[in-house]
Amino acid sequence: MNSPAAGITAGIHSAAAAPKGQAVANALGIPEHRPYTVVHAGLVDWVYSVAAKTRPAAIVWCDGSAEESERLFGQMEAAGTLRRLNPAKRPNSFLALSDPSDVARVEDRTYVCSQNQADAGPNNNWIDPSEMRGTLSGLFEGAMQGRTMYVIPFSMGPIGSSLSEIGVELSDSPYVVVNMRLMTRMGSAALAQLGSDKPFVPCVHTVGAPLAAGAADVAWPCNPTKYIVHFPETREIWSYGSGYGGNALLGKKCFALRIASTMGRAQAKADGLGWLAEHMLILGVEAPWGKKYHVAAAFPSACGKTNFAMLIPPQGLDNGGWKITTIGDDIAWIRPDAQGRLRAINPEAGYFGVAPGTSAKTNPNCMDSLHSNVIFTNVALTPDGDVWWEGMSDTAPAECTDWQGQRWTPEIAKETGRKAAHPNARFTVSATQNPALDSAWDDPAGVPIDAFVFGGRRSSVVPLVTEARDWAEGVYLAATMGSETTAAATGQQGVVRRDPFAMLPFCGYNMADYFQHWLSLGAGLRARGAQLPGIYCVNWFGKDADGKFVWPGFGDNARVLKWILQRLEGEVGGQEHALGVSPRYEDLDWKGLEFSREKFSLIGAVSNEAWASELSDHEGFFARFEGRLPADLPAVRARLQAGLKKAA
Ligand code: OXD
Ligand code: MN
Repeated sequence: MNSPAAGITAGIHSAAAAPKGQAVANALGIPEHRPYTVVHAGLVDWVYSVAAKTRPAAIVWCDGSAEESERLFGQMEAAGTLRRLNPAKRPNSFLALSDPSDVARVEDRTYVCSQNQADAGPNNNWIDPSEMRGTLSGLFEGAMQGRTMYVIPFSMGPIGSSLSEIGVELSDSPYVVVNMRLMTRMGSAALAQLGSDKPFVPCVHTVGAPLAAGAADVAWPCNPTKYIVHFPETREIWSYGSGYGGNALLGKKCFALRIASTMGRAQAKADGLGWLAEHMLILGVEAPWGKKYHVAAAFPSACGKTNFAMLIPPQGLDNGGWKITTIGDDIAWIRPDAQGRLRAINPEAGYFGVAPGTSAKTNPNCMDSLHSNVIFTNVALTPDGDVWWEGMSDTAPAECTDWQGQRWTPEIAKETGRKAAHPNARFTVSATQNPALDSAWDDPAGVPIDAFVFGGRRSSVVPLVTEARDWAEGVYLAATMGSETTAAATGQQGVVRRDPFAMLPFCGYNMADYFQHWLSLGAGLRARGAQLPGIYCVNWFGKDADGKFVWPGFGDNARVLKWILQRLEGEVGGQEHALGVSPRYEDLDWKGLEFSREKFSLIGAVSNEAWASELSDHEGFFARFEGRLPADLPAVRARLQAGLKKAA
């Protein structure tokens, strides 16, 4: 016999209310609750097989309701995992402080275990799948003891869209449940999409901290051993030991990028084109000439994607005649429609954004989104029960509690260099709170993409904006984009790390095959007579001789967007150089911004000398993919080199 609902919670979290729904009998003798009927026998079998291995104290199926979320918030408050913020300042919002060892995605512990190592490529850590299954089997044995295993059905993409995919995450972390509710379309509606036999991506997650009977829990359970594992052929995700971000919210990087990228490429074998899962924001742009455009833009992590996705164009630009709306801030799934037009959806439903640096100046729409119903992780707590992080305001609070729970003052920070918020502190908020949300953000048909923008973080060499002259050249520029490391991150300043398409940590297969997939998709669409989006490369981060950023960035990036859209319409000039086409000073709209020709020459021009060495650096990077690199890429490189010689 199963225990009644009250029995489930009494043994685990005594302060919590009972989960809704029916107690269900199962052969494992584990108390189980379902708020709905489950007709998918394969799903139930899989849930029980994981429960048999991990031996949770209870199984609770999630419905995604506000009531369920409130129950879990209450439970986590009682357990000390979350602290409720002052409701007068930040209604229905919470602060979680993680274990100091569990603060970011762990790329060195992330594996793509394809049957053949070459299919994972040099861009992924690989271990033979049978060996990895053995390791995981040992780790997951009894891993959820004393905890509740939550069954979390979720849709990546609008419910019911032919562009969406369903996943089910099993997790022993209630923090994961409440975050997944904000980040995905989670619960009953997603489950209903599965019917009785549709496929889903199985995602298993444990914090790896079983609780012995009667043992006290810690606020942020996790394990020093961490494994984030993908089996691309069987489309499985297994995550062990971390409760943080992309390690634990498995819909995001693990599913929507690593597994989905392999799904999109596999589809090409079936229909000759396939689709793309990209580390891209999606913007809607209403131009003053009355036309709406959609732009998808890839930038590496922490390079301002959320800011760009919520950009407010400066008033001086066409008297505020530009309107920018957000479809997504981090991930885009892009498929050709019947006419061969690339259409994109945002598979996510919320933002898991980096808090430090976000302010009413840098991203007012984002700050407006964060007024209520937010989960903050690893930011600082002010004495009046609100949050603060570096860069949120010009003046720091006189005192606060830092992300490690210690007293923090600006003086202490000066003496010790200690930050109030962890540099990777995050907010989780539903997209529906964004005042600039695009009306089509949840459209099952997605939005047609007019242009792709790729950006890195380079202090020199890469100009403000370059238009690729054709698809292959665009793929080349995106494949070779890079960012300079900072002293804070690595101790070696100015080292260029290539991050092709901003996908290096997220491509679930050999990046050389990924380049080929992009090239083939372009060629396939062209052969079908389709109009391809333009490809543009940008660099907001050029510096002057004193090491100061030259370009104002933020809202003024709309000036570059304007040039891009005018180029699509054939209505503005540019200067062709060895790498493509960039605007001359007079091609950009400067109204409302004082920006001299001299300044522009620091970031607008292409140095033939610098690019000669840049292109030879590309060769070294491509050498990593020897044997699988598409021939088109060295061919484009040779063309660019020839162009440089001619220009010299
Ligand atoms: C990232 C993120 O790390 O979006 O890219 O969290
Ligand atoms: Mn990201």
